[in-house]
Amino acid sequence: MKVLIVGSGGREHAIALAVKKSQKVETIYCAPGNAGIAGIAECVPIAAMDFDALLAFAKEKDIDLAIIGMDDPLVGGIVDRFEAEGIRTFGPRKNAAILEGSKAFSKDLMKKYNIPTAAYETFDSPDEAIKYLETADIPVVVKADGLALGKGVLICTEREEAKAAVREIMLSKKFGDAGNKIVIEEFMTGREVSVLSFCDGKTIKIMSSAQDHKRAGDNDTGLNTGGMGTFSPSPFYTKEVDDFCREHIYQATVDAMAAEGRPFKGVIFFGLMLTPQGPKVLEYNARFGDPEAQVVLPRLKGDIIDIMDACIDGTLDSVPVEFTDNAAVCVVLASDGYPVSYEKGFPISGLDKFDEKEYFCFHAGTAKNEAGDIVTNGGRVLGITAVGEDLTVARKKAYAATEWVSFQNKYMRSDIGKAIEEV
Ligand code: AMP
Ligand code: GLY
Repeated sequence: MKVLIVGSGGREHAIALAVKKSQKVETIYCAPGNAGIAGIAECVPIAAMDFDALLAFAKEKDIDLAIIGMDDPLVGGIVDRFEAEGIRTFGPRKNAAILEGSKAFSKDLMKKYNIPTAAYETFDSPDEAIKYLETADIPVVVKADGLALGKGVLICTEREEAKAAVREIMLSKKFGDAGNKIVIEEFMTGREVSVLSFCDGKTIKIMSSAQDHKRAGDNDTGLNTGGMGTFSPSPFYTKEVDDFCREHIYQATVDAMAAEGRPFKGVIFFGLMLTPQGPKVLEYNARFGDPEAQVVLPRLKGDIIDIMDACIDGTLDSVPVEFTDNAAVCVVLASDGYPVSYEKGFPISGLDKFDEKEYFCFHAGTAKNEAGDIVTNGGRVLGITAVGEDLTVARKKAYAATEWVSFQNKYMRSDIGKAIEEV
């Protein structure tokens, strides 16, 4: 089989490694990929949003399966384009990817089908939003409706701050058209858990839980990032929480999408908040999480191609989705200054020690320079993952492995997975 993976981050590296384990796969292409993915796949310099060029490439190479890792092409309808040309593709069609592409859509869906989530209102007029904020409970969360690189969510602890957020998003267009509409939401407290799942339009199978660390600094300080590290499973995701979510959230979401004529095939990522009133949905994503994929996929048993095929064919009920009974921790090595501004182009050393069994080095922002050296090429540079018998062991191993790698301006959080000590 020939597989094309679309995307260029640590998530796509983790997907590529899982795909490589399949006996069925002969060749992996990745567009555009990165210097790490280039070690196991043939990277082609086509941007993830250049659908025409991707399609031409897929046809030329006679691709058997395309796997879309990123949100932008999914929300933009890449799966519909590929399928229309007869290319088998893993991921939701445009009418289902809207689950991530529009927060107003997903909130209305949850309300209509009684799926637990924060109370909210949607607005397409800034004046009405500001009027509503005169009397709304504070703190409040203001969210741009569309995709905004994970930055379109503003938690406001002051009324004036919330009004300013509305103006920034709707009038100054800080996130472009993503802010034509906004959601204003009740502020929730609790621990966050990420749960990824495979879906075939009717059946849903849950993957091992994970927890991300979104803030740039230790003890959850500093700006929001794409994610500075993860661990899996989450010890806070108890049997009780799992039972509740199975009863009220997971199947309910898949059924709701099917009932709306938008069957969801692919990965649904449930961002959950474990509130004092029980688990509630913070957000849906229509793809694997990054860096959640880096701690979940190394522990997936069996052949990921069988699972993806079953999602496409609607036969997921007959394919097991199982994980090894151990734990993984991923510490992101970033460029100092991320997520605001940072330098690129520094050579990276120490990349050859990872065995891809217990220790993994997932590349995110890396590239090869003209001399053939692997250099830093982004804010998040590498995801250092270790697998161990439990979270404590995995955490120690992951932090030990972060020392193997060096590059100028290397920055990481020192408290990824520290929360497990509270259990
Ligand atoms: P989202 O992209 O919707 O997941 O939001 C990004 C982050 O903002 C989440 O991971 C939470 O940490 C935070 N957040 C979003 N919505 C809420 C809410 N209603 N209450 C508290 N925190 C929230
Ligand atoms: N780690 C959060 C995300 O992938 O959106």
